Amino acid sequence: MNDRFTLIEIINRSTQYLINKGVPNPKCDVEWIISHVTRKKKLDLYLEFENLVEKNDADKIRSCIIKRGKRIPLQHILGRVNFAGNEIICDQRALIPRPETEYFTELIKEKLNTNFQGTILDLGTGSGVIIITLCIDNDKCIGIGMDNSINALNLASENIAMHNLTNVKLKKFDWNYDNFDTKYEVIVANPPYLSIEEWYTTEPEVREFDPQNALVAKNRGLGDIFKIIKHAVEHLTKDGVLALEIGLGQKSSIIDKMKLHFYNVEIKKDLSQRERFIFANKR
Ligand SMILES: C[S@@+](CC[C@H](N)C(=O)[O-])C[C@H]1O[C@@H](n2cnc3c(N)ncnc32)[C@H](O)[C@@H]1O
Repeated sequence: MNDRFTLIEIINRSTQYLINKGVPNPKCDVEWIISHVTRKKKLDLYLEFENLVEKNDADKIRSCIIKRGKRIPLQHILGRVNFAGNEIICDQRALIPRPETEYFTELIKEKLNTNFQGTILDLGTGSGVIIITLCIDNDKCIGIGMDNSINALNLASENIAMHNLTNVKLKKFDWNYDNFDTKYEVIVANPPYLSIEEWYTTEPEVREFDPQNALVAKNRGLGDIFKIIKHAVEHLTKDGVLALEIGLGQKSSIIDKMKLHFYNVEIKKDLSQRERFIFANKR
């Protein structure tokens, strides 16, 4: 008896399985998983949808789909995420890079000249995704990624090595206790900015698989941002750029903290038209 399935049968059964488990965007996740296992482009899956799938591949697909049904994030199952055209290794050691942050990084690139030659400090570097993206096409720029999580720094170091970057360095740093011994031309950060109440309302993928230290801050989510602003006041060079990703509704409190020491304070919206990024220059 033939117990092999065609591609379209596997797509349909897996999608139904994920629907039953309440997984958001089930079909899309199924396509990513099948494309990952079979090493075929997503588009090609539908050109070959009547082909029988090799048993070995079908077993691997089933195992990935079961993991996804347990709400393990797709990015952890695939082990990689594409961020601004670059592969980034992705696992439980650090936050999964988000599309908003990809857009934030694009805005930072626009703000800096393409031939920018200074040092960029990325506070709370996580997987290293922001600093890698900023430095990958510009070997004249030096990147420093700092984080208080050793797990995150280990992951960032694997990502830097994967891209053979010699212009990006990492350092363990806790903005609550440590201090800098030098000044920087650019400080960027996507810090934790959720209140604990907001964190409780996130999807299981976020609550159970992203490190809580990467997401939650005291003082209604503003505590870490305020710490970073304090460091930036002391350690940005004159006219230096501060770029922050921020949470919903936090804009006014942050601008209040910044206005004495910064000029050109600019709020930028994300692709859903929400005010999510602040850029400013140090006086
Ligand atoms: C929202 S995640 C951002 C990760 C990465 N930059 C990104 O955009 O995907 C915030 C990062 O800040 C780090 N972090 C949290 N508290 C910190 C602290 N007190 N000092 C330094 N880093 C901290 C976390 O470990 C986490 O990697």
